[in-house]
Amino acid sequence: MQLRGSRILVTGASGGLGVAIARELAHEGAELVLTARRRELLDSLAAETGAEVLVADLADRADQERLCEAAIACDGVVANAGIGQEPDLRGDAGEATVITDRVIEVNLRAPIVLAQRFAAAKLADRRQGAIALVGSLSGMSATPGTHMYCATKFGLRGFALSFAQELEGTGVTCSLVAPGFIADAGMHHDSGMELPSAVRKKLPVDVGRGVVTALRKAPMEVFVAPVELRAASMLSTFAPAISAAVLRRAGAAEVVSNARD
Ligand SMILES: NC(=O)c1ccc[n+]([C@@H]2O[C@H](COP(=O)([O-])OP(=O)(O)OC[C@H]3O[C@@H](n4cnc5c(N)ncnc54)[C@H](OP(=O)(O)O)[C@@H]3O)[C@@H](O)[C@H]2O)c1
Repeated sequence: MQLRGSRILVTGASGGLGVAIARELAHEGAELVLTARRRELLDSLAAETGAEVLVADLADRADQERLCEAAIACDGVVANAGIGQEPDLRGDAGEATVITDRVIEVNLRAPIVLAQRFAAAKLADRRQGAIALVGSLSGMSATPGTHMYCATKFGLRGFALSFAQELEGTGVTCSLVAPGFIADAGMHHDSGMELPSAVRKKLPVDVGRGVVTALRKAPMEVFVAPVELRAASMLSTFAPAISAAVLRRAGAAEVVSNARD
């Protein structure tokens, strides 16, 4: 898809990677509709990029519906918003279910429904469109302490890879952008998780460039991670028990739990 002059909706635009994605798309000449819950952050990015702002809560079905209507009026959609909240199984059971439902709404239902409604509208009008779904290497490789995040990111990858095939030849495209660990901003950076120095990270701007590639060239997947991390994720998909043993030896459960404390 040609980005210059295209109108693109970006979810999660108040967060670390969403800001970088919006800046890259603005740099490429796209007109943006930025959405998230925190209006002040969206307003300041809108002032910089000339974007429109749409405040919406992706955990709210009525707001998901409003976003679908806004997406239909665009040429492209970047479903980037995501949360890394995990239910505490030793805490209140009702609260754990509330968190579980919220993670599914924000990380899985909202991007799927946005993509479906956007694609259906473009197909009906015989118009082109491009979808970029922001997943994660956690959609290929399961780590301890992240079961809802992994559940939703594995699910999003399955949806994206199937939907891309279904749309083939229609003029509407769907790509998955899968970041590994990202430094300087975003949920990994904000979690304070300490990784061994040998684990290489990418930057938010790399994710922004990955989204540009996804919308422009429509590959099935764009990985934003160093080659060794991609290789480890691929190993995990066909030998999850070996991958789990390696993670156990590396103390992965402690790393996640220390970041939470
Ligand atoms: N950072 C990394 O290292 C990394 C690695 C792999 C994948 N990812 C993926 O990249 C994407 C962006 O992550 P990030 O690092 O930028 O996270 P972040 O800094 O925590 O930002 C999350 C974004 O999602 C929005 N959001 C959260 N809950 C929402 C809700 N209920 N309704 C609407 N918007 C909501 C937030 O906006 P409001 O709070 O203003 O609503 C914010 O803009 C996610 O899908 C994440 O899974 C990140």
